[in-house]
Amino acid sequence: MFRAVLLCTLLCASSVRATCPSLCECSEAAQTVKCVSKDLREIPSGIPGYTRNLFILGNHITRIGPESFKGLENVTNLSLSNNRIAEVESQAFGGLRSLRSLDLSGNQLTLIHPEALAVPSGPLRDLNLSRALYNHSALVDLATALRWGMLGSLQQLDLSANRLVLLPPAMFAHLPALRRLLLANNSLVALHNGTFLGLELLDELDLTQNAFRTLRRGALRELDGLGGARLLLGGNPFTCTCGLEDFIAWLNGTGGRVADGDQLACAFPPDLHNTSLRGLGGGPWVATVTRRGEGADLALQTSYVFLGVVLGFVGVVFLFVLYLNRKGIKRWVTDVREACRDILEGYHYRYEMDSDPRLGQLSTSADL
Ligand SMILES: *[C@@H]1O[C@H](CO)[C@@H](O)[C@H](O)[C@H]1NC(C)=O
Ligand SMILES: *[C@@H]1O[C@H](CO)[C@@H](O)[C@H](O)[C@H]1NC(C)=O
Ligand SMILES: *[C@@H]1O[C@H](CO)[C@@H](O)[C@H](O)[C@H]1NC(C)=O
Ligand SMILES: *[C@@H]1O[C@H](CO)[C@@H](O)[C@H](O)[C@H]1NC(C)=O
Ligand SMILES: *[C@@H]1O[C@H](CO)[C@@H](O)[C@H](O)[C@H]1NC(C)=O
Ligand SMILES: *[C@@H]1O[C@H](CO)[C@@H](O)[C@H](O)[C@H]1NC(C)=O
Ligand SMILES: *[C@@H]1O[C@H](CO)[C@@H](O)[C@H](O)[C@H]1NC(C)=O
Ligand SMILES: *[C@@H]1O[C@H](CO)[C@@H](O)[C@H](O)[C@H]1NC(C)=O
Repeated sequence: MFRAVLLCTLLCASSVRATCPSLCECSEAAQTVKCVSKDLREIPSGIPGYTRNLFILGNHITRIGPESFKGLENVTNLSLSNNRIAEVESQAFGGLRSLRSLDLSGNQLTLIHPEALAVPSGPLRDLNLSRALYNHSALVDLATALRWGMLGSLQQLDLSANRLVLLPPAMFAHLPALRRLLLANNSLVALHNGTFLGLELLDELDLTQNAFRTLRRGALRELDGLGGARLLLGGNPFTCTCGLEDFIAWLNGTGGRVADGDQLACAFPPDLHNTSLRGLGGGPWVATVTRRGEGADLALQTSYVFLGVVLGFVGVVFLFVLYLNRKGIKRWVTDVREACRDILEGYHYRYEMDSDPRLGQLSTSADL
């Protein structure tokens, strides 16, 4: 009798205590387990089955495999933010049948297996990969994992702050339910045909803080293909020279679709810095560019007049010859002026390239 009571006491006590991994805090009432900044090297074992919210943040976990989350069928929110995860193996989240929200932000993903994101019943709604991709190989891996992940319910994808320069074509084509796509704070320079293929339901596309100097016709077509989605384009280094006309005309026609359209401004050239793109319209912008050209010509003319005066002191005869030959001289001045303008424009272009550090690393082909 006494032994039976003792046994029960031991069993009951252990079943209460044993179910929280050391270094973690478990709350059965809130169905939440937190293991925050504890220097963990791997996912701890013994996480209780009631867990719905699992936060393993700020540790030193480097790898997630299929054995990492055994028996956690009730987890709906999983955050693995700010670890050092480099590798996500096939079926790493396969056992998390209720998973709705997965946060992998602040990691260094190098190797993402093609079926890394596959959860059998496909319930994932929200995937955060902000500051998570180590380099371009990881982006290519991710594109494959998005394709094979059966992510038919995914509604929000955060890919911000990953230093992305170009997106693989049709990267999001297998995310038919996606509503919000966040690509802010990358180094995107262009959008190719097919980038946003298949995003039928998109409500919001955030492209702020990238490296777009303009958006060319193909890119504008891509954006038009997104139907009524709200677009955010602020914080890009728009260059207000020839080549921006299509974009400005498009912007003028989009009304409220570009939610921050009134805040878009020129970053270059310096004398148009911070000029509103919508304010540029047609006339005043062209006038400004023309006036700049005239200023340079005027300076040039002045120096030729001065030269003429000096020459006049050198010899009346020579001036007389010049006078007889004035038509030829005029033509020559015009030619020189043209040549100078070309050189000035070339210099101007190089100046722009040098001023944006993010563009420094790009190949000239990416620029196209
Ligand atoms: C998951 O939750 C359900 C309902 O709350 C519960 O019956 C089940 O035992 C839980 N699963 C595990 C592994 O604890
Ligand atoms: C779980 O994730 C959803 C988004 O999918 C979010 O709205 C909710 O607040 C999260 N819950 C917790 C406890 O973090
Ligand atoms: C993704 O994670 C980052 C950093 O942890 C956070 O700032 C951001 O708000 C998250 N994105 C979404 C859409 O919740
Ligand atoms: C990305 O990093 C991994 C690991 O360091 C390396 O093997 C791979 O070659 C890199 N890929 C690129 C495109 O730099
Ligand atoms: C932008 O991304 C970089 C990393 O690529 C990060 O260090 C920086 O904090 C981010 N800035 C903002 C405003 O999120
Ligand atoms: C863009 O791609 C679509 C299908 O992928 C194709 O139908 C269309 O002709 C392409 N447009 C251009 C301008 O290449
Ligand atoms: C740019 O213009 C906006 C208003 O149009 C102003 O608030 C902002 O301070 C300006 N920034 C710079 C760097 O001049
Ligand atoms: C902007 O659009 C209005 C009509 O919406 C049109 O009258 C105007 O000419 C357009 N301006 C430019 C520069 O395209």
